[in-house]
Amino acid sequence: MLKTPDEVDPAFRADVLAGLAEPIPSIPARWLYDLRGSELFDDITRLPSYYPTRTETALLEAKMPEIATLACRDCAIVEFGSGSSTKTPLLLETMKPRAYVPIDISGEYLRDSAARVDAQFPRLPVHPVEADFTKEVALPAAIEGLRRLGFFPGSTIGNFIPRSATDLLRHFRDILGTGSKLLIGMDRVKPVERLLAAYDDPQGVTAEFNLNLLHRINRELGADIPVDAFRHEARWHDMNGRVEMHLVAVRDTAFAIDGRRFAFAKGASIHTENSHKYGARGARLLLLAGGWTPLAEWTDAAGDFALILAEAQRNRFAP
Ligand code: TRP
Repeated sequence: MLKTPDEVDPAFRADVLAGLAEPIPSIPARWLYDLRGSELFDDITRLPSYYPTRTETALLEAKMPEIATLACRDCAIVEFGSGSSTKTPLLLETMKPRAYVPIDISGEYLRDSAARVDAQFPRLPVHPVEADFTKEVALPAAIEGLRRLGFFPGSTIGNFIPRSATDLLRHFRDILGTGSKLLIGMDRVKPVERLLAAYDDPQGVTAEFNLNLLHRINRELGADIPVDAFRHEARWHDMNGRVEMHLVAVRDTAFAIDGRRFAFAKGASIHTENSHKYGARGARLLLLAGGWTPLAEWTDAAGDFALILAEAQRNRFAP
């Protein structure tokens, strides 16, 4: 889809130009999710090798009655990065919340998904908010006075380095307020082969998703990146406990964005995403550091994926 220059988010241009000029070239992962990227990501979630979505969905289905009793009484559900909102109906059916607020950075995609939820739950007020949830988010006035349950599935928290992840959790606490709860999905550490297969599928959908970022830069920023000069790569970084996604130059290449030249030698990469994996203790510690006290936890039988319910901490010092 072609965007006129004034439709292009200036933050996209700024992030791309600054990120590519870094000693380790990188582009913040949020820019993977334009309309095309959001569609491709939805395809990823249905891949056989991508276990997180089906594991988390089955877990939600199996445990929902218990989760619902603990998590939400007459609450408003606020979903961060709602995407296609496919897991949400499970919550909405059982919890019967008073309102649903899906927040997503991809406005076009959000409106379609919200309309689908609206059609499926005619009596539920749905208030979509197009926003980058890492920034200031104004919750709709309509949910004022309602208790809030934040919903942050898909292990999206793992896409933030731990320092930013704790900032983000604190930010959610500020947005939702004390007295709120958070239901969060976190992928667990597991054998490297399975992790890498989830981020580098034989069908090449993840590669297409990653490479779409270069197409987006060409489309929206009028750049001339030879996309075929890059290939998708997933790497396990053991010390940092994460899968990294890169776009690696397959030959020496150069291009211009906004009149600025960038050169990549063969083998050099653009780092586009991280997906951190947590053990049980690490996951809880991350939440505690981010201002949320874990209340309950559910995992699948294989221990592949965890759902954690946490409560916003009151402001106080030790003990
Ligand atoms: N939250 C997802 C994850 O970390 C995002 C994701 C899945 C992703 N596959 C990807 C991001 C491939 C970039 C590239 O599992």
